[in-house]
Amino acid sequence: VPGPTPWDMARVFRSVRADPLTFLGEVSQRFGDTVSFPVPGAPALLLNDPADVKHVLQTSARSWSKDTVQYAALARVTGPGLLASAEPGWIEHRRLAAPAFHHQRLEAVGDEVRAAARTAIAARLAGTTGAGDVVDVAALTHAIGLDAVGRALFSTDLSDQAHDLLAATSESADLVVRLGRSILPRAEWTPTRTNLRLRAARRRLDAGAAAIIAERRSRNAHAGGTAHHGADLLGLLLDSGMDDGEIRDELVTMVIAGHETVAAALAWTLMLLAEHPAAQQRVRDELHAHPGPVPLVGHRDRLPWTRAAVDEALRLYPPAWAISRRSHRDDELGGRPVPAGTLAIISPWLVHRRPDLWPEPEAFRPERFLDGTTRTGYLPFGQGPRLCIGREFALGEMVVVLAELLRDHRLELPGGRGSWTRPVAEAKVAVHPRGGMPLVLRRTGTP
Ligand code: HEM
Repeated sequence: VPGPTPWDMARVFRSVRADPLTFLGEVSQRFGDTVSFPVPGAPALLLNDPADVKHVLQTSARSWSKDTVQYAALARVTGPGLLASAEPGWIEHRRLAAPAFHHQRLEAVGDEVRAAARTAIAARLAGTTGAGDVVDVAALTHAIGLDAVGRALFSTDLSDQAHDLLAATSESADLVVRLGRSILPRAEWTPTRTNLRLRAARRRLDAGAAAIIAERRSRNAHAGGTAHHGADLLGLLLDSGMDDGEIRDELVTMVIAGHETVAAALAWTLMLLAEHPAAQQRVRDELHAHPGPVPLVGHRDRLPWTRAAVDEALRLYPPAWAISRRSHRDDELGGRPVPAGTLAIISPWLVHRRPDLWPEPEAFRPERFLDGTTRTGYLPFGQGPRLCIGREFALGEMVVVLAELLRDHRLELPGGRGSWTRPVAEAKVAVHPRGGMPLVLRRTGTP
């Protein structure tokens, strides 16, 4: 399998650390659909062919686990929660959490997500004139993302803790990325700067989770004792018999997986709509044709263009830009034998830019998704048994936030199209706009 030579590896490590997205694009262009990296031990393969991707994530998923550096680094923060767990036992936790993401439950929490969007937008716009203020929409979507998780999944108002939780998740996400890319991983107990900072961030997340759990137990006790805690995720976890450590791991998992990704995806969607005023107007027209609250589910029939814009933004800026797996038995990929221990790296960022599947891949064209059919080579939420459990929630939240923001506001590029440069896409735990996403927000009807 083609790929960099061992002599290239120092440069490879440097490029991965500096700008992994550009690096991935360059190596796949140079070496093709399958790229092999000469790392010590078992082979490491970058897989860019949708057939190989499907094989690893779906058809042969039982042979490929999350026993990788990427997930080991994440588990330093989340523990073996639903996202990072490499064990087959993960399925028990998945079954337990699933009802919190069922269609009916999502229908019931639409108001909560809308309230999260409205509160953050009102707070951000308080004191502005509405006549063209520059707003960092990335900060706005982070606030909405965290509040939505708190309200919809934990029935908890996180506003008192929001500042600390956002800071601690962002700090730990940075450190997880650093650990995942380090050339010489050090044991967890060594007192390196990264390890010490990670321990401190983890303590803050522990304190946040403990406060959420304690508050719910006390609320339940006041409400009359030992009855069930309820149908939201936190209630399901508390009723499950899990110990507090396991509940903590799932809470921190949902805080990290549930707000960073949606926040980044929304910031990029808003940027693309600001760059494409006609596409943005079509969203607004659709919203005006359907007055009233937008539901969290079932919006594809009602707001097909808005949903297509979200799908297309997730193609161009998939927050989860890299997915990794390790084979734990011998397997085959495209007719080639693959030994046990092989590391597979799959990048939705790359697959979503294949010109054979996506003509003019860099162009923002929501119409690609208007027919609503499942597309080959499209995996913003992964594929197979470990598909994102929050997929419907995230898509619904994105549509609801667009509705709340764009119904009465227009988004524009600061300084106009001529002087606009897109923020750099920075590959952290999610693909973030480096330095935020400042856009002009103008109330419709104002000049
Ligand atoms: C898994 C992406 C929102 C919770 C995943 C995976 C991807 C993904 C690609 C699969 C990872 C792999 O196979 O290695 C996204 C994107 C989101 C999003 C792009 C937003 C636009 C959410 C939300 C939640 C969530 C809102 C929860 C509130 C999870 C969990 C898993 C997961 C718990 C692990 C599921 C399992 O392994 O059973 N996500 N996610 N995600 N996501 Fe999301």
